[in-house]
Amino acid sequence: MTVLAITSQKGGVGKTTVSVNLAYSLARRGWNTLLVDTDPQGSVGLSLSEKARKCKGLYDAVNSGASVEGMILGTRLPELKILTSGKPHGYFEAVQPGIDGVAAMRRVVDELRGRKQFDVVLIDTPAGLQGITGDVLRMADAVLIPQQAEPLGMRSIPQVLHAIQSLRAGGSALEVAGILMTMVQNEQRESTDVIRELRALLPARLLLDTLIPRDPVFIKASAVGVPVGLLYQQPPAVAHSFDQLAAELEPRLRLERARPNEHEHTKLMD
Ligand SMILES: Nc1ncnc2c1ncn2[C@@H]1O[C@H](COP(=O)(O)OP(=O)(O)OP(=O)(O)O)[C@@H](O)[C@H]1O
Ligand SMILES: [Mg+2]
Repeated sequence: MTVLAITSQKGGVGKTTVSVNLAYSLARRGWNTLLVDTDPQGSVGLSLSEKARKCKGLYDAVNSGASVEGMILGTRLPELKILTSGKPHGYFEAVQPGIDGVAAMRRVVDELRGRKQFDVVLIDTPAGLQGITGDVLRMADAVLIPQQAEPLGMRSIPQVLHAIQSLRAGGSALEVAGILMTMVQNEQRESTDVIRELRALLPARLLLDTLIPRDPVFIKASAVGVPVGLLYQQPPAVAHSFDQLAAELEPRLRLERARPNEHEHTKLMD
């Protein structure tokens, strides 16, 4: 099981959009995927369903020490499950005197590993690198860093990379799965210039080839609570960006099936 955190220093760069749509693409590609929301505002639940919003979730498990069993929600894809954030009350108050945030998160992740149910766990985090995001990064295997393709956005990249380096120096095995350019506007010179500059500046492997375009379909999809691939009968072209992202990340994340079945082919006909 690979634990992938989706994290950025800046807010509003598309973390939740990437988490929901990447989780959907990975599940469509056959990976048993769990999408975990750690945003106290519960943004995955908000963008997904009424039922998901009301459910117990991660913070309830963390605060009470309870198992996440019974909190994991199914979706219309058997390979995609969701653990919402639940009620955050108490986490931030409790974290200083009582609960050790890292230990509490580790217990939940260890429980998920022990279940051997998931190939990949995607954790959508709130903006910034402190608090719950720091706790998640301390036990994640890899981090995906969405980055808005605009000049001001670039400034946060060194900060994020530096923070990851410090975690690694402190013994964490966290790997950078990649920096993902989001809200790319091909017709806007400033947007494409940023990507060109970053390609020249950063080590080649760091910046992912996949680019997520800016498209009104994302706002539509989050308003009705679905991944873009489910918005219409025919998935819009941008849905393909997330299939491409999933394919690009699979080898980087060294995904392994919990139950290998590589000798089993899907039959075209019975
Ligand atoms: N590629 C895109 N094209 C157009 N709009 C987008 C795109 N990605 C995200 N958005 C929209 O931008 C807004 C912010 O996106 P999102 O909530 O995914 O960001 P975030 O990084 O999770 O924000 P926060 O830091 O507040 O958690 C949302 O309204 C979303 O629908
Ligand atoms: Mg978000």
